[in-house]
Amino acid sequence: MKKILVTGASGFIGSSLVDRLLQEGYEVTAGIRKSSSREYLQDSRIKFLDLPYNKPEELSEILKEENFSTIFHLAGITKAKKQSDFERINFGYTKSLIDSIKGLEVKLIFFSSFAACGEGEEVNFTPRKVTDENTPNTGYGKAKLMAEEYLRANFENYIILRPTGVYGARETDYFVYFKTLNNHLEPYLGYVPQRLTFVHIDDLVEVCLLAMNSKLKGRTYFVSDGNVYLDTEFAEITKEVLGKRTIKLKFPLFIVAGLSGFMETLGKLTNRTFTLNKDKYNILKARNWNCDIDNLKEDLGFEPQTDLRKGVEKTIKWYKEEKKLK
Ligand SMILES: NC(=O)c1ccc[n+]([C@@H]2O[C@H](COP(=O)([O-])OP(=O)(O)OC[C@H]3O[C@@H](n4cnc5c(N)ncnc54)[C@H](OP(=O)(O)O)[C@@H]3O)[C@@H](O)[C@H]2O)c1
Repeated sequence: MKKILVTGASGFIGSSLVDRLLQEGYEVTAGIRKSSSREYLQDSRIKFLDLPYNKPEELSEILKEENFSTIFHLAGITKAKKQSDFERINFGYTKSLIDSIKGLEVKLIFFSSFAACGEGEEVNFTPRKVTDENTPNTGYGKAKLMAEEYLRANFENYIILRPTGVYGARETDYFVYFKTLNNHLEPYLGYVPQRLTFVHIDDLVEVCLLAMNSKLKGRTYFVSDGNVYLDTEFAEITKEVLGKRTIKLKFPLFIVAGLSGFMETLGKLTNRTFTLNKDKYNILKARNWNCDIDNLKEDLGFEPQTDLRKGVEKTIKWYKEEKKLK
């Protein structure tokens, strides 16, 4: 039976991936910290490991002994108190992991992000391709790109996944948006509509299995449901599913920029991380988050099953069952 390690297993994507791997009968080890929540890691078949990313020799010994056939590396941060934390964790920990598995027969599936490439151009709104030049404009994206480049240069048996916005049960950031619409408010940032892409968690987890079982190596893939949506469409679908009417609020980007700067300073002063910050502003102000997944379909045979309407229906059903939304 294949032995699989999932780092970042306590998170939204990691815990969903662990569930699916268990369902498929794999032996799963969850890489988590002592402080990590085990709310979604209750299955008695799960083994746990607290990986010492800061002690490469110890990490190397552990990974050699465990002899995993696949490692999914998801541990990482999407928000940071200090920009340097992105580099320390999203690049540094990944580097440490790559150094520790050199010479081992293991496949590494690394969770990068669309942000590593950066948004697309805003004249013709062409979708981003993996062959495009990478131009990340966030600390988060730059650190993910550093990790990708280190991986390409130092390890052979890898697949890099660059998911776009992931949503579904257990997710907490889009949830803030769903709650806002549920409270009858429909905010827009800037006046030019945003082109957005999404992938439902079930489809993303399917891609993980396809990547793990593929013989291909050294590949990079964007992951989305293959469609592009306007921000207005996202709101319309969500409102219809919620059965709510809303008041539209349009904020000019300079106000959002000011607010993001304020939240970032407040975060530094209070030692907290907020959903809105300068990095997030750079993501929100970009108008073209369209990506091309043709190579993912061709190479791995991925066929998206969940478009936005179906995915939002499933997701809101879950929030309601969990009493997170009324
Ligand atoms: N969600 C998206 O839309 C999206 C899109 C593209 C790429 N990704 C990437 O996918 C991965 C998983 O994302 P997610 O949405 O599941 O995020 P998440 O819910 O925030 O989970 C992040 C995971 O990383 C772990 N982690 C964070 N800092 C760590 C540290 N210093 N040491 C060890 N573990 C640490 C967390 O552990 P604790 O529980 O202990 O904090 C948690 O298990 C990330 O690498 C993210 O960049 C996500």
